[in-house]
Amino acid sequence: MASKRAVTHNGKAKPKGLQFGPALMERLDQFATHTEVPGQLTRRYLGGAPYLDAMRQVEAWMKEAGMAVRIDPLLSLFGRYEGTKPGRPAIMIGSHIDTVVDAGRYDGGLGVLAAIAVVEELARTGERLDHAVEVAAFGEEEGSRFSAHILTSSALVGDVKAALLDTRDADGISIREALAACGGDAKAYRSCIRKKGDIAAYLELHIEQGPVLEAKGLALAAVTAINGSVRSRVAVTGFAGHAGTVPMNARKDALAAASEMVLAIERLAGAETELVATVGRMGVLPGAQNVIPGRVEFTIDMRSPSDALRKRAHAALLAELRAIARRRGVKVEIDTFQENAATALDPGVIEAAGEAIEACGQQPLRLSSGAGHDAGIMAKLCPSGMIFVRCKDGVSHNPAESITVADADLGVRAMLEAVRCLDRRLSPW
Ligand code: GLV
Ligand code: MN
Ligand code: MN
Repeated sequence: MASKRAVTHNGKAKPKGLQFGPALMERLDQFATHTEVPGQLTRRYLGGAPYLDAMRQVEAWMKEAGMAVRIDPLLSLFGRYEGTKPGRPAIMIGSHIDTVVDAGRYDGGLGVLAAIAVVEELARTGERLDHAVEVAAFGEEEGSRFSAHILTSSALVGDVKAALLDTRDADGISIREALAACGGDAKAYRSCIRKKGDIAAYLELHIEQGPVLEAKGLALAAVTAINGSVRSRVAVTGFAGHAGTVPMNARKDALAAASEMVLAIERLAGAETELVATVGRMGVLPGAQNVIPGRVEFTIDMRSPSDALRKRAHAALLAELRAIARRRGVKVEIDTFQENAATALDPGVIEAAGEAIEACGQQPLRLSSGAGHDAGIMAKLCPSGMIFVRCKDGVSHNPAESITVADADLGVRAMLEAVRCLDRRLSPW
């Protein structure tokens, strides 16, 4: 992406102090009240009224900020603030509105509400860019209800196959059914696809979800790349039996076998510095105190910045799980259902993000992301980038997620500067 012209924004004087942080933090607190579980934040994609209430809230904030709102058939929201040349490509900013189970309030929500604050400020001062600014509030990023992680941005780039919408949750409800119940339309999923050239660039503000910024005493970073990942479901079938009568040497205990597998996964990933692997979900059947477990199902999530290392390690891991199953006389079935390659973000967007961070008086650290993000998917469609915000102790996917009001303020300011910078760099007219 080449720099076309270096016009600096000469609009209203930049106000001093925390112009955006307090209001943003207040909205984030309010947004966290849309939850399925009182007393914690759990807002899964299509998880009933809390998801719909969150959508309505975002829609209202977008409209208040002067955006025209469109909701796509998979129930992501897009708020558009036209540029000086209506119909021209948009610079898209945003993140996701779903959460993990028992989440913090900043993963996803920060990026969406900060993006709305950016447009609010443009509208407040009457500033129009050449490009439209489009705020994306993606519906499904976390894979919390359905094993369809990053579904909604994948739909935008044309990466969703119809069969994925038949994915069922733990209660046997499919994405299609859940969409219909929430007013969406699975059959129209292909109309989510955006043409190449519709979106000039995508930029996402997100908490770092790691400890580097805090350790370095820095508030913001320009993100360079997103790690690749692979996800598998494993089913171990042994033989259920009486916990009191079957001798230890005559058992086919599916849970004991699965436990050995979990430790093998931990050992294998721990042997490589650039590899992490997690068993985050496990179900034991029949799940009774006095019955030897007959079947265990669990998930594996493995990630690395190196696709070659990840593929090699994953293949070695599956071989190891099969060896454990053979030795213990149980059956193992492995379904690898999702794989995302590591993604280098766009050098021009990284530069714009770095420039914006510097314009806010901050040192522009470059950092790669261990977590997955919509930006990694959007990179298939347009130049994409991210700005990370420091979070306390690097904690995320945990209710203890925390950022400061000053860093939230910096995040909005950096996004505002980055959008202006991208507008200058991308303008061909
Ligand atoms: C999303 O948060 C992921 O990286 O799993
Ligand atoms: Mn996120
Ligand atoms: Mn997350």
